[in-house]
Amino acid sequence: MTDQTFTPRVFSGIKPSGGLTLGNYLGAIKRWVEMQEDPTYETIFCVVDMHAITVWQDPADLTRATREVAAAMIASGIDPEKSVLFNQCRVSAHAELGWLLNCVARVGWMNRMTQFKDKAGKNTEKVSLGLYAYPSLMAADILAYHATHVPVGEDQKQHVELTRDIAAKFNHDYGRDFFPMTDPVIEGPAMRVMNLRDGSKKMSKSGESDMERINMLDDADTIAKKIKKARTDPEALPAEMDGLSGRPEARNLVNIYAGLAETTSEAVLGEFGGEGWGKFKPALAELAVEKLAPISDEMRRLLDAPDELDAIMAKGAEKAAAIANPILEETFKIMGFVR
Ligand code: TYM
Repeated sequence: MTDQTFTPRVFSGIKPSGGLTLGNYLGAIKRWVEMQEDPTYETIFCVVDMHAITVWQDPADLTRATREVAAAMIASGIDPEKSVLFNQCRVSAHAELGWLLNCVARVGWMNRMTQFKDKAGKNTEKVSLGLYAYPSLMAADILAYHATHVPVGEDQKQHVELTRDIAAKFNHDYGRDFFPMTDPVIEGPAMRVMNLRDGSKKMSKSGESDMERINMLDDADTIAKKIKKARTDPEALPAEMDGLSGRPEARNLVNIYAGLAETTSEAVLGEFGGEGWGKFKPALAELAVEKLAPISDEMRRLLDAPDELDAIMAKGAEKAAAIANPILEETFKIMGFVR
């Protein structure tokens, strides 16, 4: 094996399925902007439209959601001049490498994916084959760029670990140090933003009630109302983190505050310890509106010009393909394909 050094390169993506939530913002997009500004990294961000269709998407909804994700990234500070921003279906290397990696990944590994088990539930016979194979397409997304760092929320950690397993097996089987061992980057207080009505469940785009989540496109009144109605408990806020154990809803609101304020949960408790919800919730609502309103205003403005968004994604796709295609070609070569 030859030792290869890899350029520090960030890749991450969001599925355009349903509206974006505060979880997507704090767990992903907000941190991408920080990595974009760090000169250590090249940054690549993708609207992973091919992942969205693992469950049924109405075509018009897919189109709208694709633009919404691109708008959210740009409105939050992803700069298409500094980062590569594109949608996945435009770069065929993802699907091609995805197939090659399907033949490296083992069925037993897929069977351990908790997100598949959660999403499929008892219905494993009826879900799409794509939903089952999805983590190996995600590995292809990452490995097509030789990405070394993948900033994601806590729920995606297992998929990034699987990416490492696939890369290691490929490298071992072909006797080459070709794919990097990608690191998941899961840092900060809000890597697992929970449902506002049930602190044991993740805040997700697909939850039953809109009151469970804050959407990036919610207006100020809606955000304030949702925070006011968020479930809590009768106790005051503790001064130390230990005091949050067994209080998932309280912990979640403290973590959200810390994520939005760019501080730690400990520091939030230092400020609010001993206070009741009557004081904390209005402060959180004010902070959330202050941070999210400029982003949602800008998203709406961008969504009014879909042609511009599409042109940005098309240009980004050219840059993405210029990185991914040679890596795909080399993969084919290593495997012995006649091209
Ligand atoms: P997706 O579209 O479900 O979510 C996009 C990003 O948002 C994060 N996230 C959260 N973080 C904290 N709290 C939450 N409640 C929350 N909800 C969502 C996710 O962790 C994720 O970082 N499979 C991926 C998309 C993907 C991808 C990739 C990511 C496809 N290929 C390659 C990285 C690299 C997904 O479904 O994310």
